[in-house]
Amino acid sequence: MSEAVLMEREGRVAILTINRPDKLNALNQQVRDDMMAHLSAIENDDEIGAVVVTGAGEKSFVAGADIGEFEGRSPFDQRQAMASPRVFDVLATFPKPVIAMINGFCLGGGCELALSCDIRVASDKARFGQPEINLGLIPGGGGTQRLPRQVGLGHAMRLILGGGMIRADEAKEIGLVEIVCPANELREKTMELAQGIASKSPLTLRVAKEALRASQRMAVEEGILYERDLFCLCFSSEDKAEGVEAFLAKRPATWKGK
Ligand code: COA
Repeated sequence: MSEAVLMEREGRVAILTINRPDKLNALNQQVRDDMMAHLSAIENDDEIGAVVVTGAGEKSFVAGADIGEFEGRSPFDQRQAMASPRVFDVLATFPKPVIAMINGFCLGGGCELALSCDIRVASDKARFGQPEINLGLIPGGGGTQRLPRQVGLGHAMRLILGGGMIRADEAKEIGLVEIVCPANELREKTMELAQGIASKSPLTLRVAKEALRASQRMAVEEGILYERDLFCLCFSSEDKAEGVEAFLAKRPATWKGK
């Protein structure tokens, strides 16, 4: 594999770092391919319970798709480059929790990548936006669909039609990120959250994510019934038996992921 995306392990957490700092970590084909390969390996690795996605360097998380790749492309070439499976959708349906650790510019495809993750933790120096309109484009990584679901239609309209940038505190205010912290605490805060999540039962995490993600596509009544079925399904797991027994015995639970 190339060095376009680096992978490290810290306990049960895998950290994927998009590594093109001289291009502000813009997403080119190599980055997308490497992300897919790493995610596929992580999905099949029982030793990994959660994933953190970030960008190399201090300046940028991801400054969007690599604009250089757009030049001279036909619609057919572009369609081919956007063929499924796409990294945004793989992240959005990933069975393990994924946290975006946003260390700087989070623009265009970078903002869409963050939106595809489950939780977003940002440095107070991060900047957010969907600037595609300034290139005669619209978001193409799910931004017109995921952004309004995350922040509401009005804020999504403002960001996508206006093409401007907002600061981290405003991103938090509108619900685009869940946590903002000083830049020098970003890694510590994110890893604390990721390690905490990764210490839970992987099986139960998967079911919880499935129920939560269903809320984005189902009507409430339908979703409540789906949740009930998934809740009852948990009663078939060894981890549910262990969790309840451990609580009653006043001891910590040991998860098997079964
Ligand atoms: N695609 C390709 N290259 C990019 C890029 C992108 N999305 N974003 C930044 N880069 C490159 C720049 O071309 C520059 O490369 P160079 O040193 O070879 O000239 C390098 O990254 C540094 O960027 P630069 O523009 O010099 O930094 P800056 O601090 O002056 O500005 C931004 C930072 C984020 C405001 C500016 O880079 C920008 O507007 N980027 C594009 C954002 C965008 O439109 N994203 C959506 C794409 S669909």
